[in-house]
Amino acid sequence: MLVAVISLKGSPGVTTFSLALAARWPAPARTVLVEADPSGGDIATRFSLASSPGLLSLAAAARRSTDAGLLWQHAQALPGGLPVVSSPPDADRARAALLALTSTSPASTDVLRSTANGPDTVVIADCGRVDHGSAAMGIVREADVLVLLTRAHADDLAHLARRLPTVGRWTPRPVLLLVGDGYSTAEVNRELGVPPLGRVPHDEHGAAVLCGRPPRLRWGRSGPSHSALGRFAHKVATVLAAKPVAPAPPSGPTRADQEPASVLQAIPGVPNGAVSTTGLRRAPSPLAVHPADEERDPRGGAAS
Ligand SMILES: Nc1ncnc2c1ncn2[C@@H]1O[C@H](COP(=O)(O)OP(=O)(O)OP(=O)(O)O)[C@@H](O)[C@H]1O
Ligand SMILES: [Mg+2]
Repeated sequence: MLVAVISLKGSPGVTTFSLALAARWPAPARTVLVEADPSGGDIATRFSLASSPGLLSLAAAARRSTDAGLLWQHAQALPGGLPVVSSPPDADRARAALLALTSTSPASTDVLRSTANGPDTVVIADCGRVDHGSAAMGIVREADVLVLLTRAHADDLAHLARRLPTVGRWTPRPVLLLVGDGYSTAEVNRELGVPPLGRVPHDEHGAAVLCGRPPRLRWGRSGPSHSALGRFAHKVATVLAAKPVAPAPPSGPTRADQEPASVLQAIPGVPNGAVSTTGLRRAPSPLAVHPADEERDPRGGAAS
């Protein structure tokens, strides 16, 4: 399975959640995290990894080889043992590596895809903040599941509402996760017509550990298994792992070249006609913070 994790606006914690998801994916699957953010990587710096192997060496090797083990060969292990293909912090080099990996030459097209097609194998790609011209778009379009993180204030959701139809053309299976305080999942569902899977808990300690602070040889008792963020990621991963993967798109033209698909049809359970392409339909007055709303619990809501 290939899982792409993205944001559309801001920095809501995509890298941190990608790591949590990869670290807490349920057995027996083995996971590898690929840092595929065209704006450059953070993981090597945060965890003091060597500059190679990583995305650059993978992109170079993929030009010469279609070896099914290529992705694993270019990964380094994080403190808990999670294999990570880290990206250089430099955006130009990261973008060049991504474009090489997702180019149309037969040798390099399928490195992530072919690894993700392996039995009990999950490739999690941190694609960062995505727009139409992103160098990660090839991965986004290939993904079996697209996990979209968004903050949940009015401005974030107004952007999201406008871009949801586009997201629906990128993927048959988007999954929406809210981050931080703001609108509840029920309110977002009502206003956008898209049911969020849950709300990523605000967990400074759990996030710090996933950002390599403080540095540890192994995650041990402070690792993601023991944090609210890690537990939430496990719930999300369990839901994603349980659902059948949507059929692969037909080869040939990308979805962007085809007739626009409706995001409403792409998300199970979403009623037709609920998403406005011009923004939120209503003023935020009914969305005022309600103290009893468990979605606003700073420890975060569970995936449902
Ligand atoms: N759930 C969370 N709770 C508290 N802090 C968090 C959480 N997720 C991330 N953070 C913190 O937010 C900061 C940014 O996180 P991260 O690098 O994952 O964001 P990003 O969306 O990948 O950003 P960028 O756009 O720069 O790639 C980090 O300091 C991280 O510790
Ligand atoms: Mg990031």
